[in-house]
Amino acid sequence: MRVGIFDSGVGGLTVLRSIRERFPSLDIVYLGDTARVPYGNRSPDTVIRYSLECAGFLVEKEIDVLVVACNTASSYALDTLSRELFIPVVGVVSPGVKTALSMTSGRVGVIGTSATIRSGSYQKALKRYGVDVFAKACPLFVPLVEEGLVEGDIAERIVELYLKELKDVGVDTLILGCTHYPLLKGVIERFMEGTKVVDSSEAVARELDNLVTDTGEGRTELYFTDRSQNLERLIELILGKAVLPNIVSEGIHKG
Ligand code: DGL
Repeated sequence: MRVGIFDSGVGGLTVLRSIRERFPSLDIVYLGDTARVPYGNRSPDTVIRYSLECAGFLVEKEIDVLVVACNTASSYALDTLSRELFIPVVGVVSPGVKTALSMTSGRVGVIGTSATIRSGSYQKALKRYGVDVFAKACPLFVPLVEEGLVEGDIAERIVELYLKELKDVGVDTLILGCTHYPLLKGVIERFMEGTKVVDSSEAVARELDNLVTDTGEGRTELYFTDRSQNLERLIELILGKAVLPNIVSEGIHKG
């Protein structure tokens, strides 16, 4: 079987990594829209249009299931994608919410891009279960990750800048509501001391249990709309060296 995954950039590779660990034989096609990252400060209409274009590219690769490995796209475009496509579509918000609910004692923090937080997707889903929700947009985290600055002084200071208020209100569980953020997990966990940190990528992989069979050749094809400066370094950081030869195309969008 073939699963298609897309994200605005490299962040969705954290989801790919979890899916690959759970389904070693699955064929996976990944598209990172590196020419247009970030999606997190765009309007809903633009996020929906970009998402439809990414999905269209993957559907042409004959995928059986689509994983939207971007919280921003999941927050705005999931309904449209589910309506327009004739294959199952899995987003990242609901698996993250389910995981957090299974861990929390009642005070959940959620961090994400400005667009994800503005959409209220996590807040609405969590409040339905009566937990207290504290949301915070962290717009500098994505450029930090895309620059490969995932450890060290600069990362620590920016993490403190955004997360101090969540630490002060005493959240017991923190959802990383952006697929780039697991790369900052070490710094975030150290700063948040004792708070449970939810990286929804494993929950997303589990969500596929009822949708895919682990059959195929275990191929990983990676497509990017721009071969940006740090691309190979970031792929290596997330997936290791072995997949680098599988970067098969670039520049698929007109703009
Ligand atoms: N990885 C995307 C997400 O999960 C965010 C990056 C962006 O702003 O494009 O929301």
